Amino acid sequence: MKLDAVTEKTGLIGHPVAHSKSPEMMNEAFRREGLPWVYFAFDVASEELGRAVAGLKSLGFRGWNVTIPHKVAVMEHLDEVEESAREIGAVNTVIHRNGRLIGTNTDGAGYLESLVRETGFDVKGRRVVILGAGGAARAVGYTLARAGAEQIGIVNRTEKKAQDLADHLRRWTRADGISPGEADTAIREADLLVQTTSVGMHPHPEGCPVDPASLHKDLLVSDLIYHPRQTRLLQEAKTRGARVHSGLGMLLHQGALAFERWTGRQAPVERMGEVLEQVLGES
Ligand code: ATR
Repeated sequence: MKLDAVTEKTGLIGHPVAHSKSPEMMNEAFRREGLPWVYFAFDVASEELGRAVAGLKSLGFRGWNVTIPHKVAVMEHLDEVEESAREIGAVNTVIHRNGRLIGTNTDGAGYLESLVRETGFDVKGRRVVILGAGGAARAVGYTLARAGAEQIGIVNRTEKKAQDLADHLRRWTRADGISPGEADTAIREADLLVQTTSVGMHPHPEGCPVDPASLHKDLLVSDLIYHPRQTRLLQEAKTRGARVHSGLGMLLHQGALAFERWTGRQAPVERMGEVLEQVLGES
């Protein structure tokens, strides 16, 4: 790739960022589209966040992604926060346009895009159970509620957080906090189960966040974890005849949507997916 005085700059800020696959995915996307753009990763400590954002703006970066632990704190440094990010309570993408910094969130929309493309699932009128009540659960919950899910049950180790998220989602749909002890019953009646916790993630792939006996053939099980690609939960689901959806697609599509916001062009999604498969295969 040619780097010169007119190369457009984008990137990622987070802490840590060394594990991120976004630079490979996004730089290949720019290359594939013949765009003179580049994507960097910056490890930014929390106390440097304000200065880092001001620096990226001053240096003319066209936009950047934001990851843990800055997704909430970055908001106070922006000129505008779009509705999706406001309702989710986190920004994962910043767009620098006409001297203004606009925050948005492509995590939820990326999840839904991946779910629909890979499984054809129609959310309207469906019953959903979400495991977890952190940032990823808020993004997915908001998006599924807006997309017409009939009912959303939230199960979380810390029950108060499940209640709070359910209270928030009730503006758009029927939503309930469900105690871990009642999770099995809710899952038996659900159409879609979305797993957003870190249970089952490398290096503890033996973890399974629910009793496998509650999984059934009329269920679609979606696990946001992509390392490993097939979590224990997804394996147990398959064994019981359920359909499965892995977390790689969310990573891909949240990036593709950011690409589109920055460049105004359609992202080369297929190629980006190949790159992710390849780099994750190596990790
Ligand atoms: P993310 O942005 O990935 O959602 P997060 O906001 O830190 O990350 O949320 C992590 C979620 O995983 C939370 O719902 C957390 O439960 P608590 O609210 O009780 O902390 C859940 N989680 C993490 N480790 C867990 C474990 N060992 N068992 C059950 N839930 C766990």
